[in-house]
This record gives sequence, C-alpha cells and structure tokens, in this order.
Amino acid sequence: MMRGERAVEGGLPSSQIGEALLRLLLLSEEKRISSAILDGRTVWIKRYDAEARHWGKRLHELLSPVMPKSFLRASRRADASGMVDREIRKMEAFRQAGFDVPDLVYRGRTVIVLSHVADIVEHELRRLRSVDPDEHDELLVGAAGALGHVHGAGLCHGRPHPRDMFMSGGRWGFVDFEEEPEAAMPLRAAQGRDIWLLFMQISANAMLQDTEERALAAYAQAGPKGALEQLDSIVSFCSPLLPPLGLLENAVLGKDLRRLLKATRYLKRALVSIGAHSDASASSRKTKAIFGNRDA
Ligand SMILES: Nc1ncnc2c1ncn2[C@@H]1O[C@H](COP(=O)(O)OP(=O)(O)O)[C@@H](O)[C@H]1O
Ligand SMILES: [Mg+2]
Repeated sequence: MMRGERAVEGGLPSSQIGEALLRLLLLSEEKRISSAILDGRTVWIKRYDAEARHWGKRLHELLSPVMPKSFLRASRRADASGMVDREIRKMEAFRQAGFDVPDLVYRGRTVIVLSHVADIVEHELRRLRSVDPDEHDELLVGAAGALGHVHGAGLCHGRPHPRDMFMSGGRWGFVDFEEEPEAAMPLRAAQGRDIWLLFMQISANAMLQDTEERALAAYAQAGPKGALEQLDSIVSFCSPLLPPLGLLENAVLGKDLRRLLKATRYLKRALVSIGAHSDASASSRKTKAIFGNRDA
C-alpha cells in the first residue's frame, strides 16, 4: 500500500484480503463510485481521483466570491485528498451525534472504501410508489424529521437527498459527505439550504396532498428555528424568479429547475402561513405553536 493509505476499523484480517482489496482498488481506477465484494461482503469504493470536475461545479466555485447571498456559495474547493479528509471528518461527526453512517473499511490518499448500508431511502421510495402511497410519503416525512435532528445536533449534510439517506429499524443514516457549505457560509444558512434542497425531492415525489405540510412540521419539530428563518430568506430571495420560471415550466425547464420551482412555490406559501415569512408577524401564536421556544 502507498504512503498515506491505511486500513481502518480493526485493520485487514489477512494478507489475502489485503491483496483482494488492492485488486479492487486497481479495477476501480476509472470509476468514481463502485460496489464490489470483499471477503464475502459488499463494499463501496469511492474515488476522488476519477472523473474531472463538472464544468457547472467549476463555474459555481469561480463565481462564489461574488455571489450576492452566502447561501449561493459553493463548498470550498479541496483537492482529492482534502475531499477524502472532508468526507471522513463529516461522517465521523454524524456518527458521534448518533446517526448511522457506513463503516470505513479502508482509507487511501484519494480513495475510501465503505461498508454497504441497506435500505437506501430512494430504493424504498421506488418500491413503495406503486404499492403503498401512505408508507411512501411517510418516508418523505421521516426524511424531513431526520434532517431536523441532524440540524438540531449542530450539523449540516450539504446535499440531502433520498439516495444518500437510509432508514432501518427506525434509525436514520446518511452517506455522501462531500459538500461542506457550513465552511463557506454561516451554519444556519447552510442548514436552510439543506432544507430547501431536500424539499426539491419531497415536493417532487409526494403522492398525497398533505405530505409537504407534514414534512415541514416534522422538520420544525426537531430542527432549529434559525434554519427555517434562513430558509425563508432563501425563498424570499428566489421569489421574483418564480413567475418568469413558471412561464417556461412546461416548455423548456429541465427536471432540476422544475423541482426547484415546485419546492420554492410550496415553501413560499407554507412559510407565510406558518409565520416564518419575514412579512408575517414573528410572534404569531401559530409560529410559537409550530416552532416552540427553541433557540435560533
Ligand atoms: N456505503 C454505501 N452503502 C450503500 N449504498 C451506497 C454506499 N455508498 C454509496 N452508495 C450509493 O451510491 C450512491 C453514490 O454514492 P455517493 O457517495 O453519493 O457518491 P456521489 O458523490 O458520486 O454522489 C449513493 O447515493 C448510494 O445510493
Ligand atoms: Mg451522492
């Protein structure tokens, strides 16, 4: 193994497995993420030295210093080994706070190997969609509640999405910690952005009428009020874009922009009605009922 590379979580049990691991690492060289069997169990190999950075991401990083609002900034740029450090540091912070995360099987300078976690939420959603709309939407509500708990623990995921969340035995877990917006903007702004991003999935996938509302209430019950206030600033900032985007909705908007539009429209309405919106009275009884008296 090269310098800076080591096996973790108890070390490799035998040189045979060490050899198998080396073979897997060589085979995965071109791929950013791949799964494989190591010593009879599924592992995920994530490489930060494969694939060039997407041009959109580069442009976002380049423009970040002149962004008018902090929530629009990209995570700080890191090289491949800095990305490995970030992913492991954040994963450990989540573990320490009591959330499930994969075990770290091996860490290299630019690659990590993780244990397999079952029950990725996106897979469950796909399975439930045609058989049980109630259970399907319950999972979306649960995801919002789980994000509230993450934020309540002082953490931020960075890009919460059902494909990076898992739920088993009533416990929520997370994978993919490569974004670190909390290092580029205040924590509450990064958490507000997290909620906005998750709602792009919740609003797009909800099958029942009251799911978005229940999801927002589940978040509010567990999450910090300050993050919802930051979400409100994000939504207010984007509001002028909603009518022109709405005109293009059916003709030219791609899937991501349609999701953004749907979530932002819903959040705008909802934040006004629950009193988190800046135009509404912050001390309304309803606000207190929903957010309680927790600290911002
Ligand atoms: N340890 C794991 N167990 C199960 N599935 C995983 C694991 N790691 C990654 N995946 C699956 O692979 C997908 C891509 O991995 P991720 O770490 O999110 O890479 P990327 O940064 O390319 O999105 C995840 O969304 C998840 O569905
Ligand atoms: Mg991912």
